[in-house]
Amino acid sequence: MKVTVVGAGAVGASCAEYIAIKDFASEVVLLDIKEGFAEGKAMDLMQTASLNGFDTKITGVTNDYSKTAGSHIAVITSGIPRKPGMSREELIGINAGIVKSVSESIVKESPDVVLIVVSNPMDTMTYLAHKATGLPKNKIIGMGGALDSARFKYRLAEALEAPISDVDGMVIGGHSDTGMVPLTRLATRNSVPVSEFLSEDRLNQVMEDTKVGGATLTKLLGTSAWYAPGAAVSGLVQAIACDQKKMFPCSALLDGEYGLSDLCIGVPVILGANGIEKIVEIDLTDAEKEHMHKSAEGVKATNKLL
Ligand code: 2OP
Repeated sequence: MKVTVVGAGAVGASCAEYIAIKDFASEVVLLDIKEGFAEGKAMDLMQTASLNGFDTKITGVTNDYSKTAGSHIAVITSGIPRKPGMSREELIGINAGIVKSVSESIVKESPDVVLIVVSNPMDTMTYLAHKATGLPKNKIIGMGGALDSARFKYRLAEALEAPISDVDGMVIGGHSDTGMVPLTRLATRNSVPVSEFLSEDRLNQVMEDTKVGGATLTKLLGTSAWYAPGAAVSGLVQAIACDQKKMFPCSALLDGEYGLSDLCIGVPVILGANGIEKIVEIDLTDAEKEHMHKSAEGVKATNKLL
């Protein structure tokens, strides 16, 4: 199982590290445009192999897509991250050109690849990857919901004063500060709805903290986060590589599901060897539907900028 990660910056390198530590892939190719950078990150990571106990071979290459040939899965993290005060949408001008050329180069070398798009604005970049490559719609997945859900669970555990392993919850909708739809109604502590423990006000606070999860970190770090994004991507890669049929909220191209079409937005999907094996349609309340449709309007407005 060969996995390519394009972009050896903080998110790409974390992603390669988590994939290697989980030890399910035979090879990870890390590619970057900056001369020697991916080679350096790959060598540093390989020197953790005996310490962390993995056999995955990590190779670094400078912009040589021939070395990515035959990849089963490719992750696109290329482009610029946001700076404090910026929205993800503001990155479209620079990142659109990069994501278009990267996705074309990947598919040229690996026509059967499953692509995972991480670059922001992620839902629009996922849509662009569809337009640029013409891959079947199950083979392009946007990573946002898995990360936003992890941040939701972190905030829920904090509010509940509970261990995170006790908490479950999911965020659907667009991967943006205003577009996320945290499904508090369905969140649970060990199968018990969280509303049994938390007031409506506290739950609203959890929702708001979740939606600005990325912006909060960008303000603290001066650039966008990488550990949780890298870990979230590695979860999707593992589900596909190991044909796990696990459910994650991911940005998928919709064709009537949730009453939406011709956009990529976060919805629950089953991930397996074929990429998106199924889009799961859950019954939403009228308020959740309205929130989802507003989120879709935002994503479509950003798509128009393409
Ligand atoms: C985040 O939310 C990078 O969009 C990513 O941290």
